Amino acid sequence: MSVHKEAKRITTQVVHEMKQSGEKIAMLTAYDYTMATVVDQAGVDIILVGDSASNVMAGHETTLPITLDQMIYHAQAVVRAAKRALVVVDLPFGTYQGNSKEALNSAIRIMKESGAHAVKLEGGREVKESIERILSAGIPVMGHLGLTPQSIYKFGTYTVRAKEEEEAQRLKEDAQMLNDIGCFSIVFEKIPAKLAAEVTAAVDCPTIGIGAGAECDGQVLVLHDMLGITQAFSPRFLRRYGDLGDQMFSAIRQYVSDVRAVDFPNESEQY
Ligand code: KIV
Repeated sequence: MSVHKEAKRITTQVVHEMKQSGEKIAMLTAYDYTMATVVDQAGVDIILVGDSASNVMAGHETTLPITLDQMIYHAQAVVRAAKRALVVVDLPFGTYQGNSKEALNSAIRIMKESGAHAVKLEGGREVKESIERILSAGIPVMGHLGLTPQSIYKFGTYTVRAKEEEEAQRLKEDAQMLNDIGCFSIVFEKIPAKLAAEVTAAVDCPTIGIGAGAECDGQVLVLHDMLGITQAFSPRFLRRYGDLGDQMFSAIRQYVSDVRAVDFPNESEQY
């Protein structure tokens, strides 16, 4: 029997055991109760309340504007839905980089006010102290290396990271450090598959890739992208599992047309 099939509830311990037994971890984002219910029931192991909510839910160009209060609102809805999945919540930009006390306070607010199970934050050595302080309070932390969207103005572009030796070496050191201080998992975003495979083999904690190849211990995608609800964004790593955007558009067009033609409601749809 596999580890994830036996588990009634996915915990950080379960994902660790999944890595040890070679079972891949499926992670997706969700930001609201209804979608999170479907994601949870479909067997996703980890639901990420990502700060991509800033783009997907609020229509911002970057992840920078979303606030801690807004992340907590989304997290509360997802936690209500998740009966099996581990719920991880992004610490938004500006709530953990300043100092470790602020980082701890932000993480505590997320855990206390939403009931989530873990937090995720972006970066390596520059946020080490913040991560240690959060971990010392008993809050599980997921790291995030490679393309870290909260630093988009530093990078200037959303292209693949760590292609050059110097940045790849820094990423390897940061991943080892995140593993050693006790992060329960690390996301690798948009880095060469070979590099992700090498680091995945070197660290004990599970790695979750998005545009980081098949050798990561798990994969994550943004829900609205993989369902085809959002259509403008189509990087090479994104596989679309549906075209819900088109289906929703057709359904709504049909509704508008039926209302205008007085075809809705019909006799059996009224009292
Ligand atoms: O916010 C998010 O959706 C993320 C994933 C892309 C990993 O951080």
